[in-house]
Amino acid sequence: MKKSLENIRFLFLLVAIGLFSCNKQTDQISIESPNKKIVVTVETIEGQLFYSVINEEEPIVNKSRLGFLFKNMPDLGNNVKINTVNQISTNETWEQVWGEKRLIENRFEELVLNIKEKNGLKRNFNLYFKVFNDGLGFRYEIPVQQNVDSIIITDELTQFNIANIYRAWWASAYKDKFYESLYKNSIISDITDTVITPLTLELSNNKFVAIHEANLTDYAALNIYFADSAKMETDLTPWSTGEKVFAKAGMVSPWRTITIGNSPGDLITSYIALNLNEPNKIDDTSWIKPGKYMGIWWSIHMGKHTWKPGSKHGATTENTKAYIDFAADNGFEGVLVEGWNNGWDFDWTTHGDSISFTEAYPDFDLEEITRYGASKNVNLIGHHETGGATKNYENQMEKAFKLYQSMGVSAVKTGYVNLNNLDGKEFHSSQYGIRHYRKVIETAAKYHIMIDNHEPAMPTGLQRTYPNLMTQEGVRGQEFNAWSQDGGNPPEHTTIVPFTRGLAGPMDYTFGTFNFENTAVPGTRVRTTIAKQLALYVVIYSPLQMASDLPKNYKGKKEFDFIKAVPVDWTITKVLEARIGDYIATARKDRHSEEWYLGCITDEYSREITIDLNFLDTDKTYKAEIYKDGANADWETNPNDFEYMEMIVKSSESLLIKMANSGGQAVRFVPID
Ligand code: NOJ
Repeated sequence: MKKSLENIRFLFLLVAIGLFSCNKQTDQISIESPNKKIVVTVETIEGQLFYSVINEEEPIVNKSRLGFLFKNMPDLGNNVKINTVNQISTNETWEQVWGEKRLIENRFEELVLNIKEKNGLKRNFNLYFKVFNDGLGFRYEIPVQQNVDSIIITDELTQFNIANIYRAWWASAYKDKFYESLYKNSIISDITDTVITPLTLELSNNKFVAIHEANLTDYAALNIYFADSAKMETDLTPWSTGEKVFAKAGMVSPWRTITIGNSPGDLITSYIALNLNEPNKIDDTSWIKPGKYMGIWWSIHMGKHTWKPGSKHGATTENTKAYIDFAADNGFEGVLVEGWNNGWDFDWTTHGDSISFTEAYPDFDLEEITRYGASKNVNLIGHHETGGATKNYENQMEKAFKLYQSMGVSAVKTGYVNLNNLDGKEFHSSQYGIRHYRKVIETAAKYHIMIDNHEPAMPTGLQRTYPNLMTQEGVRGQEFNAWSQDGGNPPEHTTIVPFTRGLAGPMDYTFGTFNFENTAVPGTRVRTTIAKQLALYVVIYSPLQMASDLPKNYKGKKEFDFIKAVPVDWTITKVLEARIGDYIATARKDRHSEEWYLGCITDEYSREITIDLNFLDTDKTYKAEIYKDGANADWETNPNDFEYMEMIVKSSESLLIKMANSGGQAVRFVPID
């Protein structure tokens, strides 16, 4: 790890003071990205504070306001001047505990501005802008000072007035509590709702922009609404009482991020959000282990088993042992078991208060199962579904993690299904929810437990600081293919989510279904070919990946070899080809071997793409193990038609990838010399 702070420049009060022809006074300062291609300007116009962004001489963000609206004080951001300016250059590289890329370059130019009210309360605040080669982040700090003590934020004045938007991929905020809706693709005037972030935009100059946030700590999540097609305003998730954030002087906001790419893939391989989070706070990370798991899960969603006890209870000792046997025989690290604990008898989504996180149903012998698992090197993955009753969970959390730790359980899937919000009133993405989720991550870390969080707030890169926060849902995942009344996830869905929800962090989507029949709702099913199911393990990133189908559907299948082999921790990731909503081809190099993996998927249209293998190491020859759609594959009529073939390849060659409608291709490249 190398760290060097280059060139610290203090530019106190070296602010250009200019006069516009219409006599508006402007304080203005600009800063460039290290490669000089992005220019951010902060200025005051008639006492109001604005920023704007230019990339390669074209506007990316038109003048956009900065500041706050408060309940208990006058707004902040009017009648202000730029008081002091510091500029700092940073160029360092740090290593991820796990991830899509091992070494992360953190190179940026930073502007630190102190902004002061010219009269009245004479309050001041700091603005931090970090400008990278692929975008920027900025945050506010309201320091301790006279005239400011407790702060009640009713919203930010922050705007994101992105220039020349051609179209957006968006999903509504609030309507869908768990970020589990399909993303829509439209022009801006068709966006009728407040939308969540990441908000992904294609500009008319063919650039791609994503707006999101990083390091969401003790604050409310960012949402955006279009006041008109040129004005994009902040809408923080409120408390049930309407306020957005309760804070004290000394507070900092999350970073607001604007990632800029020349191709959609550039958004995926940007690491701005990780760079804007704090370094790892967990000293000993030896217990944090990415891996693959199976589970008593899909059978429940398919209606074959139940969470609640009875003749169809899934979480029995016998059933769990059978899963452990299969997992051990096939090299999986974990088995998730849902419905093991008291509390599932009633509608658990409304009776979360009666869930116990320590008492098992009589047909589930926790001690015996964990002993059996340990003897076969397979961990039980614990399950804490809270039904959104966070108080009930917090009351038991310490004891529950302690119990799991004493049984050798090192990963827990948490859940917050409740259509009436957390504890019947607060949004998951509110400051209330954010505080709760943080408490879970920190408590889990104390007991050496990794977290897979379902129904989360949108991720913001916190896994850098807490690498036990492995993966999260917050996506319309595989479960919809078991029971969704609309037939399941449409073929294009997985060609969109890597560029929307996926930009926020790892996704526990849980693919790997080989059986395309007999779901809980007739007509609903996995709408892909089998080769696409395999390719998704490369395309969609998670350090914990599930093979979601039942063991009997994997037995004797050549396709299963790919799931067994595919890694979950990578040295490097490259998005080779992509059109959002149409197709994506991603290559990743294993962090623990010299193998490369390629995943290509397409939407409802069959497609041929030529993939240049120049991502492979030039000095090696590889055996390519190719898992492809068969000649007659078709997601609707023939999803299981699949072919396996091997080829010897080098980086100077290319591969013609033929994909059926909603098909795909997965390739493992094993060096042979
Ligand atoms: C919703 C989660 O997404 C799903 O994976 C889980 O099985 C249920 N909640 C029950 O916890």
